[in-house]
Parts: sequence; C-alpha cells; structure tokens
Amino acid sequence: MKDITRVGIVTSGGDCQGLNAAIRAVGKALYERIENVEIYGMYDGYRGLIDCDYTFMQPSDFSGIINKGGTILGTSRQRFVPGKDIVDEEGNSLLPAMKSTYNRLDLDCLVIMGGNGTQKSAKLLSDQGMNVVTLPKTIDNDIFGTDTTFGFQSAVDIATNVIDYIHTTATSHGRIFVVECMGRDAGWLTLYSGIGSGADSILIPEIPYQIDRLVELIAARKKKHKGFTIIACAEGAVEKGEKLLTEDEARKKKEAEKYSTVGYRLAADLERITGQDARVVVPGHYQRGGPPCPYDRVLATQFGAAAADLIINKQYGHMVAMQNGKITSIPIEEAASKTKFLSPDFDMIKVARDIGICFGD
Ligand code: F6P
Repeated sequence: MKDITRVGIVTSGGDCQGLNAAIRAVGKALYERIENVEIYGMYDGYRGLIDCDYTFMQPSDFSGIINKGGTILGTSRQRFVPGKDIVDEEGNSLLPAMKSTYNRLDLDCLVIMGGNGTQKSAKLLSDQGMNVVTLPKTIDNDIFGTDTTFGFQSAVDIATNVIDYIHTTATSHGRIFVVECMGRDAGWLTLYSGIGSGADSILIPEIPYQIDRLVELIAARKKKHKGFTIIACAEGAVEKGEKLLTEDEARKKKEAEKYSTVGYRLAADLERITGQDARVVVPGHYQRGGPPCPYDRVLATQFGAAAADLIINKQYGHMVAMQNGKITSIPIEEAASKTKFLSPDFDMIKVARDIGICFGD
C-alpha cells in the first residue's frame, strides 16, 4: 500500500494577488497534517502539467511568500474549446499529456487555483479520472458558487485608490474622467471600487447605459456647481441596444470602431456632446499587481487550508468556496457551469442608487 501522499499544485489563468498566500497555506497545511507528503509545483499553470515541468517543493518553499504578488509557480492561459477540451494550436487534445504527467508523478491529487476558465478545465481533468481540488481566484469575483474570490479585494483597493487620486485632478480642472476597470463581462470590481471611491456614475455590463443619462448627470452636477464628473466604467460595459447584437456582429462592430476600449469611446462621446474636457484612465493590469491586501491573505489562507482538508478527507472533485461567511466546498461541475454576474437588484446596487450614483439607465 502507498504510504506517501503526492500532491501537485497548479496556478492557472490570469494571475492575481493572494496566489502565493494560497500556495503557502496548502503547502503548510499538508506538511503539518500528513506524515508523508510530497508536493510538486507545476510551472506556468497547465503548461507545466502538459510538459511535465515541475519543481519538488520543500517546506521552506512555502515560507516568506504570504505577501508576495503574482505566483511563484508562474501561470499561463490555455486554448479551451468550451464544453470539450484543452487543445494545442492544431486543435489536438492536451488532456492525455496532462494525465501522463499525473500518472508519471503518481499524484494523489491536483490542487488547481484559477478563475472561470480554469474551473472548466479542472472539470475536464476530473472527468478524465484525475483527483482534483480547486480554489477560486480572480480579481473579477465572477466565479459561481462562492461569495468571493481571492484577488478581488486587493484589486478593489487598487482601483479605489486610482479613482481617489483622479478625484483631485478632476476637481482642479473641472473635467469628466472615465476610469475603466477590469472585470471582463462582470461589474463587481467596478461596482465596489466605484462605491468605495465616491464615483458619480458606475457603468457595469449587467446594466446597459444610455449616453443621454450621463449627459443629464453632468448637466445636473454643473447646476450644483460641481464642474467635474467621475465615471467608473467596467471594461465590459455596454450601451443600451448593444447586447442585442450577435457575437459575430459585436466583433465586427468592435473591429470597425476607432476606439480601442469602451472607456475611450464613452469619453469621446461625452466630450463631443457636452463640450467639456473628458479624459480616460485605464489602470489595467496594475489592478492585478503588487502584494495582496490583508483580507486576501487571510481568505487565501482559509481557502488553502480547506483544500488540504478536502485532500485529507479524499473529497475530490470539489472547489473550496465561501458562502454566507463560512468556508465550504461545492462540486467543480457546479462552479464551472456558469458565471456569477451581478443581479440588477443586488443590495449594493440599491445602496449606490440610494446615494445618487448614476448607472446610466
Ligand atoms: O480575468 C482577470 C482579468 O484581469 C480580466 O479582468 C481581464 O479582462 C483579463 O483578465 C485580462 O487578461 P490578460 O491578462 O490575458 O490580458
């Protein structure tokens, strides 16, 4: 009978703050709680699993990294055919190569940390007979089945800080500022940083905006002798009517447009209509960089320790989650089944509306 437990760790997809804190917690909990354990860190996410490129991780590897940004293991994005497979450039399945590494290292389980795409891929690995436990990480906070993800709070802190700083210069010059936040098709990051920084308007993909509403807001603010307007705009924000386009039509429209992102288009439209100076700030990957905030360090530690629990209890095929303030787990299949979007009747949207924040609808 096998008396060594072998665990592989994978950090996959876009990086975020808290990955190293989570790696640390998984490693420390496993070394603490299992007598004979070997831990293998896969380099560059699934790429390391595909190419059998890994490092054997000693207990010392898990020290001194709780406050480090990024991931000490590296990460990558893989080509993914939705609902089907992880493939190479020619469309060949990469699952056999991953399974071969899993078997070659005689792994008992993989701990995979990732966002939506990673959860879907992890489900495929699980379907192939590999034991998998996942952790939800992303600044987008859009993973279904968990109230929050690590990385999100750190990104909110950064985006809030950016908008805070923009406030002073916007006020001095009496300008319109559009601060474009990350988040893909979900508005979580924009909503929380917009509220936290006192933005005048928050535009999120879940609530299509109308340019006229923003023009009215700017005029109303001017009447109150507020010459500047700050708009926190999600990178996935859409104008009313836009959603009705098919995917192909939307792609063609984007290609035909002269503005690189929604923020630039919006600022140009507002400047043209109102005659007021408008500027754009895109904090971009800065939102994913630097050390995790204390909240994310704690959350990642809770998630990592819970992953070790799942491994010890052989409860594979689960994603660690936070529900109503409690750490729990759900089947990966469930987490991978859909994206967690904001609901237009979500409490925080009501709070924002109550204090007069304009959603452009
Ligand atoms: O999913 C995290 C995220 O930062 C999104 O908010 C953003 O749209 C995307 O990744 C950017 O991806 P990349 O790092 O590949 O440019």
